[in-house]
Amino acid sequence: MIRLDKMLAHMGYGSRKEVKELIRKGYVSVDGEIIYSDDYKVKEDSEIIIFDEVVKYDEFVYLMLNKPDGYISATFDNNMPTVLDLINGYESRNLFPVGRLDIDTYGLLILTNDGKLAHKLLSPKNHVNKKYYVKYDGKYNDKFIEIFKKGIPLEDFTCKPAEFVNLGNNEAYITISEGKFHQIKRMMEYVGCNVTYLERIEFGPLKLDSNLKRKEFRPLTKEEIELLKAE
Ligand code: URA
Repeated sequence: MIRLDKMLAHMGYGSRKEVKELIRKGYVSVDGEIIYSDDYKVKEDSEIIIFDEVVKYDEFVYLMLNKPDGYISATFDNNMPTVLDLINGYESRNLFPVGRLDIDTYGLLILTNDGKLAHKLLSPKNHVNKKYYVKYDGKYNDKFIEIFKKGIPLEDFTCKPAEFVNLGNNEAYITISEGKFHQIKRMMEYVGCNVTYLERIEFGPLKLDSNLKRKEFRPLTKEEIELLKAE
């Protein structure tokens, strides 16, 4: 069961405020009955009609979260809060994060229940680019650009070519096409630096929505879902 206003907002019929207004004005019916209260709870298989249009409750959900620190990228943990604790209104949708960000990493994380798409996006064969904004301690050297491009040899594997863009002031954009454990931190250690702040700002074709504050999330638009599927 989910609140009617929440469901309609999640599905892109407007902000919570706008859909509440539509409901109060009598534009929405559930299983043949006009509903005027926005906190009315609907079942996922209820027939909802809005402006004479049957609303289809999508099987798959795709959300963009602006991850704060202090949350782990998992569906459950015995000790720590998880990113799922930040997602209200989708409790019954079996969402999971697409890949992982470290507990202290910020930024763009996709959550979905579309296992097939997640698998495709995470497959090493697929080389989905992930761009990070990085702050670090240590001394910048112009050689970083070449070293990252060549593929940094870490203890357990050699990284694929990556892009290092120096922003000055011990800040950089780093783009990698893999997602190995602590990868950016380890790459920076290799060049003698220590990451002090890490934020993912792009995932494949998607950019972190600058309107999303930390801890906030929103459903992906239809266009964004299509772009992801085309990756
Ligand atoms: N690289 C890291 O070191 N940590 C992350 O969370 C993501 C990439």
